[in-house]
Amino acid sequence: MEKSIKVFAPATIANVACGFDILGLALTNPGDEVIIKKKASKGITIINQTPYSQIPENPLKNTAGVALQAFLDKTEHDCGFEITISKKIKPGSGIGSSAASSAAAVFGANELLGQPFTKKELIQFAMEGEKAACGSPHADNVAPAMIGGFVLVRSYKPLDIIPLAYPEELYCTIIHPQIELKTEDARRILKRSIQLQDAVKQWGNIAGLVAGLFQKDYELIGRSLEDVIIEPIRSQLIPGYEEVKAAALENGALGCSISGSGPSMFSFSKDKATAEKLAKIKQDIFSNFEIETISYVSKINPEGTVAIG
Ligand code: HSE
Repeated sequence: MEKSIKVFAPATIANVACGFDILGLALTNPGDEVIIKKKASKGITIINQTPYSQIPENPLKNTAGVALQAFLDKTEHDCGFEITISKKIKPGSGIGSSAASSAAAVFGANELLGQPFTKKELIQFAMEGEKAACGSPHADNVAPAMIGGFVLVRSYKPLDIIPLAYPEELYCTIIHPQIELKTEDARRILKRSIQLQDAVKQWGNIAGLVAGLFQKDYELIGRSLEDVIIEPIRSQLIPGYEEVKAAALENGALGCSISGSGPSMFSFSKDKATAEKLAKIKQDIFSNFEIETISYVSKINPEGTVAIG
């Protein structure tokens, strides 16, 4: 019999300034909505229900299709799946668009097959979707998209995902300048080696950020949101970056940096009013550069990918 499930998978902020490829958090909004239908005949079919976005409908090229195939390869089944994707997270935005669809597809199929895997185990399959999207199976979007919260990828081989404690009252402001930046391109321009003195600074900031989150020490969180390795290179791809960051810090942001591989930028604040004020300020600055924006204010989403409706 055909069964289906509707799934919500959230946008995510990867890297969180200092933690390239190892830190990420889930947002409450936006998120992709995906319907996964179990079919009697084998094979994966993709249906795109996103009006503004062309996403591949070939399952071998679609991130959700690739992730689902990786899941099916490790599962005993004699069925197929139809995935209907309604994207609310724009591809190339820097807030985990491909990760959300991948997480949703494998989560939904896992539910329909009676949960052969835990949510944490599903992350490895969603990572294959990331690999298809940008050539690198990084987990700092898919892990928080799947399990929610603030997540550390302590190790890739073996995969070791550590949920972190974080203060309840931490607000994220995301501003998405309407320029598309492909993760693949934003990774290609990075240096292959780094100076020891920069590595030392970055390690200190990562540890400081994690300690600040656990201790609910907002000042420590703020001063640890510093990235001396990736930001100097990628920020050059975002017109107005320095101006937006300076204005955010002057107006109450704990810290401000690039979300994932950009072009979205994020900042943290202690309260909603500041977070909303920052959205407006950032929007105004980008408009001085004649760049339209979409902004989101969100707490950290503790649940990750869930069945809805
Ligand atoms: N860690 C990845 C990167 C995240 O920065 O390339 C991409 O969203």
